Amino acid sequence: MLSSLHKDHLNITRLLDLLKQKLAAIRAEQPISYFLVRDVIDYLREVSDTYHHPKEDLIYDYYLKYRVVEGDVANRLHEEHLNLLEAGTELKEMVEMILMDAVIPLDQFTAKLERFVALQEAHMNYEEGVLFPHLRDSLTEDDWRHLEQVWQNRAIGDPLFGAEVSQHFQALAKRLSLPFSVN
Ligand SMILES: [Fe+2]
Ligand SMILES: [Fe+2]
Repeated sequence: MLSSLHKDHLNITRLLDLLKQKLAAIRAEQPISYFLVRDVIDYLREVSDTYHHPKEDLIYDYYLKYRVVEGDVANRLHEEHLNLLEAGTELKEMVEMILMDAVIPLDQFTAKLERFVALQEAHMNYEEGVLFPHLRDSLTEDDWRHLEQVWQNRAIGDPLFGAEVSQHFQALAKRLSLPFSVN
């Protein structure tokens, strides 16, 4: 389970790198495709917010049930997931407005985009550096088996990095040079 989450992180990192390229391009006053920016945000909402984070929450909640963890630390994961969700919603709204030709000051957009990328990166660093090692040390084989079972029914195919790329993400898959079959 942790290795699948780690794999997701590597995929998310690729998408954040793409957003950083876009940021650099905007700052260099080069034209960029806002559709691709929107697709990245859509993907993060569709997969991170509705699948990846709940999976982490499930493991962590299970862990908390059997261990005593001080209040603030215990809430951190949920809070960060919530913050990411909100930041993504705000960013999505702004990109949609740009796509509808609304006048948005570009530095306002780049500031928001930069903050979003930084939040995502800090969050993954926390998980990879602190949380995952902790879970790896604390949970037993039986714990993982139990969690796998609970999660089983909720598993989905990844619409971008999975075997089949959904219609929605084909442009993004092309941009990332992912091998995919058109369906
Ligand atoms: Fe997370
Ligand atoms: Fe994560």
